[in-house]
Amino acid sequence: MEKLVIKGGTPLKGEVTISGAKNAAVAILPAALLINGKCTIENLPNISDVKLSCEILSKLGAKIEWIDNNTITIDTTNVCEHQAPIGLTSKFRASYYLIGSLLGRCKKAEVGSPGGCNLGSRPIDQHIKGFEALGATVKVSNGKIKASADKLVGTSIYLDMVSVGATINVMLASVLAEGTTIIDNAAKEPHIVDVANFLNTMGADIRGAGTDVIKVNGVKELKGGATYSVVPDQIEAGTFMLAAVASKGDILIKNCITKHLECLTAKIIEIGGNVEEDGDTLHVWCNKRPQKANIKTLPYPGFPTDLQPQMGVALSIANGTSIINESIWESRFQYTNELNKMGAKITAQGKTAIFEGVEKLYGAPVYATDLRAGAALIIAGIIAEGTTELYNLSHIDRGYENIEDKFRNLGADITRVNE
Ligand code: EPZ
Repeated sequence: MEKLVIKGGTPLKGEVTISGAKNAAVAILPAALLINGKCTIENLPNISDVKLSCEILSKLGAKIEWIDNNTITIDTTNVCEHQAPIGLTSKFRASYYLIGSLLGRCKKAEVGSPGGCNLGSRPIDQHIKGFEALGATVKVSNGKIKASADKLVGTSIYLDMVSVGATINVMLASVLAEGTTIIDNAAKEPHIVDVANFLNTMGADIRGAGTDVIKVNGVKELKGGATYSVVPDQIEAGTFMLAAVASKGDILIKNCITKHLECLTAKIIEIGGNVEEDGDTLHVWCNKRPQKANIKTLPYPGFPTDLQPQMGVALSIANGTSIINESIWESRFQYTNELNKMGAKITAQGKTAIFEGVEKLYGAPVYATDLRAGAALIIAGIIAEGTTELYNLSHIDRGYENIEDKFRNLGADITRVNE
């Protein structure tokens, strides 16, 4: 079993370059199935969810060539299979995008129920609502989702709640539909805009992505033939910003879109950190103990739920008592049990957690409970006194490219060990 051994106490210093966004890449790759041709995708993060997505696309008949660790050409001309391999699709959440893209391309799809981080029940009723509104019949049984349609006809869809996945999935299913689709109450995350930009580069006609009303004018075909570069990862950048603050460090975060991090920047300044923007680089530093703050996670542009555990680490050592309200997921405080093993004083109850700031954390053996909890526990190990052993690294490797190398280059004493 692999583990990360982290010897704490070093403030992070230096610079780090942000990779392409996981949550954009895992949607753009299945979106390529809508193309009848070839395209090139650059700035893909070198993570297991991307490799898994490519493996599934190949099994569906796509021809994928790796140009380097972060660039592929993909030819989907000969894709004729509509049944995604169930053993693979259950390994991550984003497999549900195969339903929208296969439905859009083949008018039928058979995909295993998605897996992904255990954050509570993760229903897909809004995805299904969208597919049915477009004219599809959807059945969920025996761990599979089967969708089919004689034809897909554009319509207006009002999502009952703001959902990243449902917004993207309905967009995928409507790109080749007859007529115009309006997605109302749409999510506005940067990765949704990135998927729309990718599809438009390949010949789609999508307007309004990034607002709460997205308009999709159906087109006959996506010819592809272009090159697209995945947007920088807002959540990876935020992870390093919070690592700089919690470790009382001073780092330059390169290749990020500072606008995507405005909410976190405001909160970091509120707790006593410093942030300076310079083009696509953020300079983040902090030379004192963070102050307490209250956080409520919200859909973009609110405070991102995917940065909640990382912020929790900074608040666990803050001066005073903080409250985090997790409004998106029912069960996203499992990481606090691990932090309490390191000396934190956190009481989590349902969607709320109270952080009584302590002077310091102490190294201990801890377990990543999901992707972002794993990243948070790396930060905790870096700031703790003594040695931390972090297990369940497969969660972390799903979403962060070379994370221990990036932290080591910032001065962290961190090693991946096979035990
Ligand atoms: C995406 O998940 C991300 N995953 C998650 O990131 C992220 O936490 C989440 O968006 C919110 O930003 C990917 O993009 C692969 P939602 P998704 O649909 O699409 C409820 C990470 O760490 N809902 O926006 O599954 C749902 O239960 C991961 O990178 C329904 O009720 O999230 C939740 O309470 C973790 N019915 C809320 O909406 C539906 O049909 C938001 O979920 C869909 C969602």
